[in-house]
Amino acid sequence: MRGKFISFEGIDGAGKSTHIRYVADYLQQRLKAQKHQVICSREPGGTPLGEQLREVLLKQSMHLETEALLMFAVRREHIAQVIQPALERGDWMISDRFTDASFAYQGGGRHLSLEKLNQLEQWVHPDLQPDITFLFDVPLEVARARLDATRELDKFEQEKAQFFADTRNEYLRRAAQFPQRFRIIDSTRSIPEIQQELAAIVDQLLQQAE
Ligand code: ADP
Ligand code: TYD
Repeated sequence: MRGKFISFEGIDGAGKSTHIRYVADYLQQRLKAQKHQVICSREPGGTPLGEQLREVLLKQSMHLETEALLMFAVRREHIAQVIQPALERGDWMISDRFTDASFAYQGGGRHLSLEKLNQLEQWVHPDLQPDITFLFDVPLEVARARLDATRELDKFEQEKAQFFADTRNEYLRRAAQFPQRFRIIDSTRSIPEIQQELAAIVDQLLQQAE
């Protein structure tokens, strides 16, 4: 049977990376009997070429449309080399960001037309969507405070508050547009509380897959 595809989304500092490892380990435990793997990957990135382009995308300024085209070029490679083969083997795929990030960052944050993004999506993956998308949602101030406390900021993380307000709004708009796929995770709660909710959602997904 085809595996399931889970994507993790949210503005920078919302808590995505913190919870991906937890979900991957939790899932792997439960899939053990079926001998299926959990494959974790990320965008931009996920393949050797994608990781090279990630370096460029996170460091270098470029035309807004170049940025969007490169994000989708990375995605095309990621789908062909990693996501599609994993799902066909029956493995489960977890991606740290997918196309919703292009809508939120290039569309919401940078105001690229959503119509152009729709066209790119139709071109690159007309028949593929995540089965579940976890949207880690926090007010901007919480995300900023968490980020500032940790690491050196990349090109996107250095954007102003308005950029993140627009990005977050576009994520929330998409969550309202696709309620069956999105699960909004209130990331202001404690890590154990969030993990409990994630485990319950993953259990439901496993039941559907049986
Ligand atoms: P993202 O991957 O979404 O950019 P991270 O998972 O790296 O965010 O989290 C950013 C910082 O916030 C990290 O230092 C992490 O430990 C912390 N953090 C994440 N989730 C929570 C939470 N629920 N409560 C408190 N701190 C958190
Ligand atoms: P991110 O995945 O948040 O990595 P880390 O948490 O390790 O810093 O960083 C990737 C950045 O790329 C993030 O700021 C969002 C941005 N991005 C886009 O602008 N568009 C996209 O389509 C994708 C996938 C990411």
